[in-house]
Amino acid sequence: MRQVVLPALGTFTVWREAARALAGAGIPAEEVSFTRDAAPGLLGQEHPLPPPQRQLRVPRAFLDLAEAVSCHRDGTAHDRLYALLLRLQDAPGLLGDRADPLVDGARRMEKAVRRDIHKMHAFLRFSALPPGEGGRLRFAAWFEPHNFITERAVPFFAERHREMDFLIATPETTALWQGQRLTFGPPSPRPDLPADGAEALWHTYFVSIFNPARLKVKAMTAEMPRRYWKNLPETSLIPGMIADAPRRAAQMRAALPTIPPAHAVRLAAARRLPQPAASGELPLPDTSGGLPLPETPGELPPLAEARRQAAVCTRCDLCHHATQTVFGEGPADAELMIVGEQPGDQEDLAGRPFVGPAGQLFDRVAEEVGLSRERAWITNAVKHFKFLPRGKRRLHQRPNGGEVMACRWWLDIERARLRPRLIVGMGTTAAEALTGNGKGLTQRRGKLERDTTGAPLLLTWHPSYLLRVPEPAARLAAEREFRSDLVAALDFLRNAA
Ligand code: URA
Repeated sequence: MRQVVLPALGTFTVWREAARALAGAGIPAEEVSFTRDAAPGLLGQEHPLPPPQRQLRVPRAFLDLAEAVSCHRDGTAHDRLYALLLRLQDAPGLLGDRADPLVDGARRMEKAVRRDIHKMHAFLRFSALPPGEGGRLRFAAWFEPHNFITERAVPFFAERHREMDFLIATPETTALWQGQRLTFGPPSPRPDLPADGAEALWHTYFVSIFNPARLKVKAMTAEMPRRYWKNLPETSLIPGMIADAPRRAAQMRAALPTIPPAHAVRLAAARRLPQPAASGELPLPDTSGGLPLPETPGELPPLAEARRQAAVCTRCDLCHHATQTVFGEGPADAELMIVGEQPGDQEDLAGRPFVGPAGQLFDRVAEEVGLSRERAWITNAVKHFKFLPRGKRRLHQRPNGGEVMACRWWLDIERARLRPRLIVGMGTTAAEALTGNGKGLTQRRGKLERDTTGAPLLLTWHPSYLLRVPEPAARLAAEREFRSDLVAALDFLRNAA
């Protein structure tokens, strides 16, 4: 028996040379055994290679197959390749025969190796190191592949990250890409990699691509096998996201928009017919985006009349697509006015503000802090649902500045008629409609401002935003802020009383 010891680096090249010589000298497969050295070494010295006696011919596809199989963990991989090489001399078409056990076995190994390389490309995570000479970016990574693939997989990273230096350590070898040169060396112990901002980025990315409604744990673990998890920063989130998935999926189902039922279409058509005013005269519509607020509310229609007139509003194009106008509701002497963005899918069908998922969240938090919805006037900056039809769905669209301005007509009437002690504006559209300032809420929420009429205004997150925050911890934090803003609103009303 001839023992050929293959080195841990350059394994395939050495196997190919040895196999060519041995097969060329007519040595049968039963008399050869290949073993892979654990550390870089040389071809076994005890049995020098015989001089070749005949020229070998193999199809190109065999070399590709052999190069992949040579990376496989299975200790018999090179013996099998040698047996295949010999058989190919008499049966050049053998590789097409998947029923042949030798071919089938080699194909399976090839597939496993290619998959492992793919996983290394997808799951290797670099950590940033302090910059090198001349400020060159430097990174390091640790990865545990299943097969001996490092030499084959790493050139991909060098090609991709030409401008940075990196070191990739695996239990089998260490790869160094430095100054545009790739070198491989013996393995080193797992390095202590510094935690950097990239971990948080991976968390965010992973959470945002996770769709709880499509959760299939089996498919997920097939795509991201558990053996890779321990070196991936984002996988610490998986158990929590799986546990939370049914709740989030139910929430998404509840929030699904629908095509309005036929009766809603008829309702919409009937409501859009202009109707004579029962009492009071509405000032001629203009497009200036707001009413010059009168000194006395008497010049404006009462809320009930404004509601009737708003039902046939055509101040912007949204009226042509929505089912109906969703006017504000609540006591006409409410001290608190709550303003959202625009009716959603369910509000559009029901004709009432905040009755869908966002409304349910609002009701729950309000109840928790002791704010009774019945005490407040609840309305929206824009009174028609703006959406994009997508098959059977109506996808929420944010109203644009023109639509917000056109609808301020009604918001101004509501504000002027109610003269609330406090307005709570939820979300940036409400903030923009109430103050003319559309700046984000991060710096503004929870603080008292004045709206364009001088009324005290407290801005907070929109409940729909709370439903959309993907990361559970961030969602809870935002909900806590929302809750504390409602408490602040109640305190303000108590103190103002
Ligand atoms: N979102 C809003 O802004 N208002 C509603 O009435 C419902 C959802």
